[in-house]
Amino acid sequence: MATTSDQQKLVEEIRQLKKEQNAILLVHNYQPDEIQDIADITGDSLELSRAAVTKDGDVIVFCGVDFMAETAAILSPRKAVLLPVGDACCPMAEMIRVDELRLAKKAHPDAAVVCYVNSSAGIKAESDICCTSSNAVKVVNAVEQDEVIFVPDKNLGRYAQRFTKKKVLPWEGFCYVHDRITPEQIREAREAYPDAVLLVHPECRPEVIDLADHVASTSGIIREVCSSKAHEFIIGTEVGILHRLNKECPQKNCYPLSDAALCHNMKKNRLELVRDSLVNLSPRVTVEKTVADRARNAIERMLAIP
Ligand code: 13P
Ligand code: SF4
Repeated sequence: MATTSDQQKLVEEIRQLKKEQNAILLVHNYQPDEIQDIADITGDSLELSRAAVTKDGDVIVFCGVDFMAETAAILSPRKAVLLPVGDACCPMAEMIRVDELRLAKKAHPDAAVVCYVNSSAGIKAESDICCTSSNAVKVVNAVEQDEVIFVPDKNLGRYAQRFTKKKVLPWEGFCYVHDRITPEQIREAREAYPDAVLLVHPECRPEVIDLADHVASTSGIIREVCSSKAHEFIIGTEVGILHRLNKECPQKNCYPLSDAALCHNMKKNRLELVRDSLVNLSPRVTVEKTVADRARNAIERMLAIP
């Protein structure tokens, strides 16, 4: 276990290496606390995708999971994108294969394909437009077609269905972290904190969404807590978000809806791995050009929606 002074040394090394490599550190809201603390930007998937394009630098160190780093590499092909934990993946993104999506497109030739950003570059390349948890409803409503194949998250697809007249055909994928949050856990949390406002992520099941006061992306949850007049909040998403909540609104009390809501791949990262990635400029994430060019269309169409 690293001591505080070991950690300080590592943080200093990273700071120095970042200068030498002209690198920026993009960090997802679920990353370990000590990684969030050294971020140039901490954010949700949409904010980090935008930052990959707008922030200057030769190197992006992406502290998150593989689809996020891939998205950054697609959007900024001239920057070297590093993923310190080379095997940090999102199991939901692996719940759909390109050949399966092609079959679904054949079965529904008039439907638009909307892919959640939690998907491989190959799936994005087969899609009309991408979305994140913060803009899924907007994106579904923005496509011309009346029918939408929504991949791979069935829960986000069903959530979008609540706010559109279009017919949404959700894929059967899910996030194991959010899908195992239950109404029973909500009843217990409401009993323990009767005055608290309950916020959940749209990757949760419909029966959990039904019981929430607010549904938002990770950064949406942070904005809602910080701007709310209330003082107590139950947070229904991955527990890494509590670090930012405690830092940015220390006067509010935030309780996790489930202590077991842990994304193991997000939690694999460590300061040593960030340092090593900057020393070796590896593991580097690249996307084959023909796939990247098609995937970029889907992502840029999303980014063009205000
Ligand atoms: P957001 O940060 O975009 O809300 O996404 C949550 C998530 O599960 C990312 O994998
Ligand atoms: Fe994937 Fe869920 Fe982890 Fe997000 S929290 S990276 S959706 S497994």
